[in-house]
Amino acid sequence: MSDFKLEIAKLLSSHIACLTQDEIYNMIEVPTNTDMGDYAFPCFKLAKELRKAPPMIAQDIVGQIGEVSYLSRVENVNAYINFFLNKEDLVKSVLERVLAEKNQYGLETVKDKGNVVIDYSSPNIAKPFHVGHLRSTVIGHSLYRIYEALGYNCIGVNHLGDWGTQFGKLIVAYKNYSSKEAVEEKGIAELLRIYVLFHEEAEKNPELEQEARDYFTKMEQGDEESLALWSWFKEISLKEFERVYKMLGVTFDSYNGEAFYNDKMAAVIEELEKKGLIEVSEGAKIVRLDDENMAPCLITKKDGSSLYATRDITAAEYRKATYDFKKCIYVTALQQNLHFAQWFKVIDKMEYDWAKDLVHVPFGMVSMESGSLSTRKGNVLLLEDILKEAVDKTRKVIEEKNPELPNKEEIAMQVGIGAVIFDDMYNNIIKDIQFSWERVLNFDGETGPYVQYTHARACSVLRKAGIEKGHDFGSIDYSILTDEATVNVIKELANFKTTIEEAANKYEPSYMARYAVDVAQAFNKFYHDNAILVEDEKVKEARLAIVMSIKYVLENALYLLGIKAPEQM
Ligand code: ARG
Repeated sequence: MSDFKLEIAKLLSSHIACLTQDEIYNMIEVPTNTDMGDYAFPCFKLAKELRKAPPMIAQDIVGQIGEVSYLSRVENVNAYINFFLNKEDLVKSVLERVLAEKNQYGLETVKDKGNVVIDYSSPNIAKPFHVGHLRSTVIGHSLYRIYEALGYNCIGVNHLGDWGTQFGKLIVAYKNYSSKEAVEEKGIAELLRIYVLFHEEAEKNPELEQEARDYFTKMEQGDEESLALWSWFKEISLKEFERVYKMLGVTFDSYNGEAFYNDKMAAVIEELEKKGLIEVSEGAKIVRLDDENMAPCLITKKDGSSLYATRDITAAEYRKATYDFKKCIYVTALQQNLHFAQWFKVIDKMEYDWAKDLVHVPFGMVSMESGSLSTRKGNVLLLEDILKEAVDKTRKVIEEKNPELPNKEEIAMQVGIGAVIFDDMYNNIIKDIQFSWERVLNFDGETGPYVQYTHARACSVLRKAGIEKGHDFGSIDYSILTDEATVNVIKELANFKTTIEEAANKYEPSYMARYAVDVAQAFNKFYHDNAILVEDEKVKEARLAIVMSIKYVLENALYLLGIKAPEQM
């Protein structure tokens, strides 16, 4: 047993009839002041049902709870019931479990909870992969690992922006202002240049716009020449995106982007018509959402071409049919809130009960501190430059702090890139971020490098003690491990599973990032208060067992964030 919260919920549930065990579980708090117990249960919500004052209820329940082996004390203070864990029991049960499960601790190995589709990264072909896509990539990737850790089978989809009128523009621009050689040599940068140029020229000559629309219509009708160009632009772009994914260590199970749905949209539009949801307005087909106080959802333009929402509705139906998902999660910037709200409603109006399983996870903007990057603004290389600069800066720090370190280059990659990933998720994701090197790469702050460094420090203690991964600690004298700093470490370790659940339920990888910092801080306090490599073998073994457990949990928490845990740095 290591989930005391669950045990307490079970215990309480035998004394409280009007709430389910789950409801009780969710109401249990962890008091910040340990004088108030290790766990506390507020009785306010029971007052109405029991027609009694909350403090009375608390008192009654405490009176009914007898001796419980893992609790040293249960008491009521006002309307709260406070539970004090028996320290030795607590330490024993948590440590035993972590040391047995090792780097599987907290992570479900059987994926039997059903499918979860996660739509993340999803950059636009022929456009730069910017910091917003970076955020979507790292948040989505982390949610993927978090849901997997809970026993779901995840399907990561890169819903590439590879369809739409902009490709008509790109074809016209390519024909007028570029060449095969230039695109091959300069890649996305060239595509971007001519795309911008197209808009400048179109202001002077509106006919270009019509030409572009015609090309897109041709594409939608299967015209070979324009599709060949389109597919070439896509290939060029993907090659550049892949470089970034490789640096980040991110993968996908499907690259079915918007174009994939081209031949599937007609059926969906027909379905919408049959269900009586389509209204024709000035030649365009729309679904009215007046009853929801929302602007209508555009399904086709007056020239018959499809839109972003048409493709999302079609993709959702396809994903439901293909994966029968429990949830389908979309990670994008919050600017797309209306778009998702609209088409989720359309699915609802189509009377699909799985409309409730569609989840939009919006995040805030990232802005660059002025002067923080040497790069040309808006340039395609912006994101790759950030990652490279992170690695360069980290390499310099390593040169200073630990010049003897073997495989410096690899570690610089893991720490530099890990730092950027961590920073994207340290605060609630809805918040905007002002990117600052000073914060991102601070080894002592609440950062990725700090957590990684703490992990490496634990590894170094274990190395010095000659303890290898998977070491069997045998019988540990738990009575040695009851000082405050140690018990705090143990409580943090015990919270791992609950933190994963909360991060998943709230779609907040930031809970995991903050948890990792909490564990690292608890460890550093423990390390400060307790000498580890001491003469007394029993004491040494017991404390090393704590260090080993911390190592596993930090490694696992970083894994869930998509960050590597180097053993030396
Ligand atoms: N390509 C879009 C963009 O860059 C994001 C796509 C998100 N996913 C989706 N299914 N709409 O803004």
